[in-house]
Amino acid sequence: MNTIELEDRFGISFCNRQAIAVERGAGSYVWDEAGNKFLDFTSGWGVTCLGHTHPVITAAIFSQAQKIIQNPNSGFTYSPSRAKLLSTLHELLPPHLVKLFFANSGAEANDAAIKLTRKITGKAKIVSALGSFHGRTFNTLSVSIGRDNTERYLPSLPENQFVDFGDSVAMRHAVDGATAAVIVEPVQGEGGVRIPEPAYLAQVAEICREHNALLIVDEIQTGFGRTGAFFALEHSDPPVQPDILTMGKGIAGGFPFAAFAVTEQIDSRIQKGDHGGTYCGNPLGCAVAASVVAELKEQNLAQRSRRLGVELLGGLTRLQNKYPELLLGVRGKGLLCALQFRADNTVDRLTQNCLDSGLLVTPTRNKVARLMPSLLVSTDEIMEALMILDKSLARVVGN
Ligand SMILES: Cc1ncc(COP(=O)(O)O)c(C=O)c1O
Repeated sequence: MNTIELEDRFGISFCNRQAIAVERGAGSYVWDEAGNKFLDFTSGWGVTCLGHTHPVITAAIFSQAQKIIQNPNSGFTYSPSRAKLLSTLHELLPPHLVKLFFANSGAEANDAAIKLTRKITGKAKIVSALGSFHGRTFNTLSVSIGRDNTERYLPSLPENQFVDFGDSVAMRHAVDGATAAVIVEPVQGEGGVRIPEPAYLAQVAEICREHNALLIVDEIQTGFGRTGAFFALEHSDPPVQPDILTMGKGIAGGFPFAAFAVTEQIDSRIQKGDHGGTYCGNPLGCAVAASVVAELKEQNLAQRSRRLGVELLGGLTRLQNKYPELLLGVRGKGLLCALQFRADNTVDRLTQNCLDSGLLVTPTRNKVARLMPSLLVSTDEIMEALMILDKSLARVVGN
């Protein structure tokens, strides 16, 4: 049996996959086992911010693996690798977020954040936005998307409430004295790259303050330069100060790693035994994250993401003007960009056509194809992606 047959035969299949077996990657490209080359505008679902097999990452893995891999932050000892990452991140985080804990996935970081807000406030209700995605643990599933995932696992956490994303009036109606926290993405990623008004997050923070509820901002997809700022909350106007900020994906460029940061006030309410995990903050992950974060900072890749995002969005706008019968709109923030289609089945047809021409794009909800290349993507690679998109859209129109 070949790779695809083996995976189909023995792996549990929770999602549809495209029929290529990716064997290796370098920069913005990946290759399948037959040697076919693909331009990767998925970044492994918004993760490989430095592209594939970046030397900074492979060197960090090699060097740390020779020293020690396992020694978690919920264990009994300290770790130089973890200490280094803590101080690196401390310099980049909004200054009011003073303490951090490391996790292994975005869902785990959000789950812990939700759990802590319930304990600290003594309240149970969590308000989140329709269209949001915060993870697949039970807690995070209960505050994600609304209907399509959650319904399979009903009853969900009963006190949770969903409101329309970007609608601060709806948020004001939902948040009350029973609310422990609001969890929100600065830009909805899985929901279809939905960008709220600049004042939205600050309005939500204000509503939370009025009801002694805590604000969790989920930067798992938007953080680490993806939207053209180191954290997407920097786009907020007026500025916003979340109580908890959750991070993942780009934080370690592909190594499974995540984090949450809290204010002094939250930290003062945390007790021994409130949270932990066998692999949380393991030295290998910390070493990789520290080198990725340092590279992002030294090369100012957030600014690069902003600049190249403008180029990519410019090209997408030209495509929208060329194919108005297919495209309802295009949008983007930094290198998190989207094509929104008019008809439901067009995203899959486009994705398949792009794949056939050597471009990987990410289908997502609300009839959206998402583009999130490496932050090191070049202008030439953007031009190549736009050319393939153009060809693929033409083929979709022709069929
Ligand atoms: C905004 C956001 N939060 C949380 C998650 C869950 O992260 P993970 O898949 O690492 O658990 C995702 C994943 O796509 C995400 O986009």
